[in-house]
Amino acid sequence: MAHNHYDNPEFFAKYSRMDRSVRGLEGAGEWKTLESMLPDFGGKRVLDLGCGFGWHCEYAARHGAKSVLGVDLSETMLRRAKAEHWLPQITYECHSMDQVSLPEHSLDVALSSLAFHYLDTPALERVFQMVRRALVPGGEFIFSAEHPVFTAYGSQDWYYDENGNILHFPVDRYFIEGERTANFLGEAITKYHRTLSTYMRLLLEDGFTVTGLTEPQPSPELLDTVPGMRDELRRPMMLILKARRQ
Ligand SMILES: C[S@@+](CC[C@H](N)C(=O)[O-])C[C@H]1O[C@@H](n2cnc3c(N)ncnc32)[C@H](O)[C@@H]1O
Repeated sequence: MAHNHYDNPEFFAKYSRMDRSVRGLEGAGEWKTLESMLPDFGGKRVLDLGCGFGWHCEYAARHGAKSVLGVDLSETMLRRAKAEHWLPQITYECHSMDQVSLPEHSLDVALSSLAFHYLDTPALERVFQMVRRALVPGGEFIFSAEHPVFTAYGSQDWYYDENGNILHFPVDRYFIEGERTANFLGEAITKYHRTLSTYMRLLLEDGFTVTGLTEPQPSPELLDTVPGMRDELRRPMMLILKARRQ
């Protein structure tokens, strides 16, 4: 099974202290944008890929989903999901997203929040094919991932002046897709860069109609309450894509 940084105790401890881990969806800069794009969950069968602590699974269940399957590679993340974000409609399973196998037409909504940049492109293709097969015609697929501008160079860190002030964010190697080593919470984390056209191509080739694309900005109320959030207006960090199965 692929190595997962979220099972590394030091990284997990730092991730658990992030605002989005403590306050949940309301502490996530992109949440208001993502929420505005989510489909109606009433009576739906929902899949959450890379569900982490299960915030989105709980949201879907509380908004009427008939069933929610949350899949994550990290047992540590799932332990907390099961303890704190479980409802009778929710099932959590520990797998890599690209190993999930579901019956044809067994899903109404597939979602994923900030997990696809941990997959290389062949694995992401397998995930998209699985989602297309599992969704009913007209079913909805919505996901966020780190923005290609954010993943391109690799380090995911600013350039600073001699006094430690931010100068700019590096963008380079944009069309050279593949593995990157990012500095996330002070740890060296493996992520995968791919271009915006690759995300779009994979969806279109798999028979999805793209119905939405946004580059979320932090909610105004977070700008001055969460450290560093104002700098998120300087470059896109995330991409949200929404598609419908034809
Ligand atoms: C940034 S967290 C996002 C968690 C959650 N979706 C959220 O938005 O709060 C990324 C999650 O992806 C999971 N992940 C990474 N690689 C994975 C894989 N190959 N299969 C399933 N989950 C994976 C990690 O364990 C982690 O829980």
